[in-house]
Amino acid sequence: MKSRQIERRRLIAAMVAAGFAPWQRLLAEGNLLPVTPSDAEGPFYPVDIPSDSDNDLLRVVGMKDNSPGQFAYVHGTVADRHGTPVDGARVEIWQCDEGGVYHHPGDGGKPDLRFQGFGAMVTNRAGAYHFRTLRPVPYTGRTPHIHFRISTPGFDRLTTQLYVAEESERNARDALYKGHTPDEQALLTSAFGAVGGSSIAAEFNIVLG
Ligand SMILES: [Fe+2]
Repeated sequence: MKSRQIERRRLIAAMVAAGFAPWQRLLAEGNLLPVTPSDAEGPFYPVDIPSDSDNDLLRVVGMKDNSPGQFAYVHGTVADRHGTPVDGARVEIWQCDEGGVYHHPGDGGKPDLRFQGFGAMVTNRAGAYHFRTLRPVPYTGRTPHIHFRISTPGFDRLTTQLYVAEESERNARDALYKGHTPDEQALLTSAFGAVGGSSIAAEFNIVLG
């Protein structure tokens, strides 16, 4: 039992270290991919889906100015445990603005309108999705995170949160983050690394159970 746990931890660590590139190797070795853990929805999912809810959260219809904050490209693949890409999955994200405020009446009702706050897109045949958004910032009581919800027609499949690897100190103090096992934390945490110029990117690959 113990050696099996160690083996599983080794596999997950290898996947995370290599940005999940070893998916094919894991599968070739007869393993199913570990399911992405769920996490709390939180209180700030939009009351009404905004009319501007595309996958570019930095460009808001009718707004001339850009949002302040560190721009980030968040992308990945949605697959099943066999590594088969999920075509047509709706991926939604929502997060607070640079001042820590959500586009939600329950969070004061005064978000920065230069930031879209919520976005959605549907995966292609390769299961791929991508968003242009802000690197998330902390707000009272929470380490930086981006909320995710994945659905396929007629089914809610997963609600979870993506955490920032470079925020290990804040993550270690976050009640929701601490509620996950180390294996789960690893699956929900991505590096927001530099990709040239002032741009940063994070890869978050999602496995549906
Ligand atoms: Fe949140």
